[in-house]
Amino acid sequence: MKKSANKINYSEQLHAKAITARKNSYSPYSHYKVGAALLTESGNIYAGCNVENASYGGTICAERSAIFSAVAAEGQIKIKELLVITAEKKPWPPCGFCRQVIAEFATSKTKIHLADENKIKTSYNLAELLPEAFGPSHLTRR
Ligand code: THU
Repeated sequence: MKKSANKINYSEQLHAKAITARKNSYSPYSHYKVGAALLTESGNIYAGCNVENASYGGTICAERSAIFSAVAAEGQIKIKELLVITAEKKPWPPCGFCRQVIAEFATSKTKIHLADENKIKTSYNLAELLPEAFGPSHLTRR
């Protein structure tokens, strides 16, 4: 048996979970539905969707919604993979706020996948999306 045959395909699971979460998107203002799902280093998957607010600034993106669910469940997390799904031909990348929040919980190996409803279209490392990221390592007390 090939070694890869035993490998769990997390990307497919993330895609399925993000699709389900996206269905629950609360987006009466933009009408853009976004879903996200992430895999933590402990092997658990958490999903999120964008939740908008009449006071627009109260809106939270799908990526942060997934990350905050993961933190609520596990505390300190490290993200192995994160997948974002939009229905656009060219899938949306995470916004700047989300990139910064991803950076907080990412490692050099974290993969960020952008998908449409059918499949993953592109995958990035965090460094590609947020070069020279400011992160926890900068806040060492002197
Ligand atoms: N949105 C996300 O969920 N993730 C992003 O990274 C980009 C933007 C949401 C926020 C808002 O509900 C809608 O998409 C339009 O900006």
